[in-house]
Amino acid sequence: MELLDGKKTSDDIKFEISKKVEELKAQGKKTPHLAAVIVGNDGASRTYVNSKVKSCEKVGFRSTLIELPDTISEADLLAKVNELNNDDDVDGFIVQLPLPKHIDEHKVTLAVKPSKDVDGFHPENLGRMMLGLPCFLPATPAGIVELLDRYNIETSGKDCVVIGRSHIVGSPMSVLMARNAKVGNCTVTLTHSRTKNLAEVTKRADILIVAIGKPEFVTADMVKEGAVVVDVGIHRIDDPSRQSGFRLLGDVKYEEVAAKASFISPVPGGVGPMTIASLMLNTLKAIDMK
Ligand code: GUN
Repeated sequence: MELLDGKKTSDDIKFEISKKVEELKAQGKKTPHLAAVIVGNDGASRTYVNSKVKSCEKVGFRSTLIELPDTISEADLLAKVNELNNDDDVDGFIVQLPLPKHIDEHKVTLAVKPSKDVDGFHPENLGRMMLGLPCFLPATPAGIVELLDRYNIETSGKDCVVIGRSHIVGSPMSVLMARNAKVGNCTVTLTHSRTKNLAEVTKRADILIVAIGKPEFVTADMVKEGAVVVDVGIHRIDDPSRQSGFRLLGDVKYEEVAAKASFISPVPGGVGPMTIASLMLNTLKAIDMK
């Protein structure tokens, strides 16, 4: 078994980006500027957004963190989005999800200007992805594609099974793995909560991408010998035996699945850092597309 080391790969990508930022600066060009909006106090969301801001520093981007209370009205959040749309200094921005229940996520996603939508969540970017046109790809699926690419995983003609059909991971992932591209050309099966005999389906996968959001959902009996396994899940589980008081688990029962897999991404240190690397790459692209 070989590790799909997202931490190391994302550090490599961030180093490459930092060199490009130095070049931009040497040419007297603008320093890329990413803004992140976070609403409320969800611990996991705060951790993710803080990592995004820290990564901006690491690659030499400017960053702005906009922290809003969970009592903010939908109208006020939409006004903030509009302000960022019209701020020429901001090249790209994200609104961290999930949002409080009284705010319609679709309305917020639709309000983001497509040319600044570095999360790749706007229907214009998702539509362009479907057509193979230049666009911002959603950060997590794009990060997984990049990880498979950098480990030279052969995908052409392979059976790829995706578990989970979310708008931000499973659905776009299935599209990317099927397209005619270096990482792509798979026969893709998109599975979800209504899939019958799931284990029979997943056992056919040469490449198994798990984004179901349930801790240790995928067990060894669901995986083919030699499969490439990508674990998108991340769950904080109480563990009083640890100093931190918790441990992190993925959607895959790691030890037993790793024993069968040819490649596997760990949690933490797999897909999470790659999502951030993709966001940095998209922000750089936002400058290019201007
Ligand atoms: N919540 C979970 N993943 C993401 C992501 O990639 N972007 C945003 N904005 N929110 C998320």
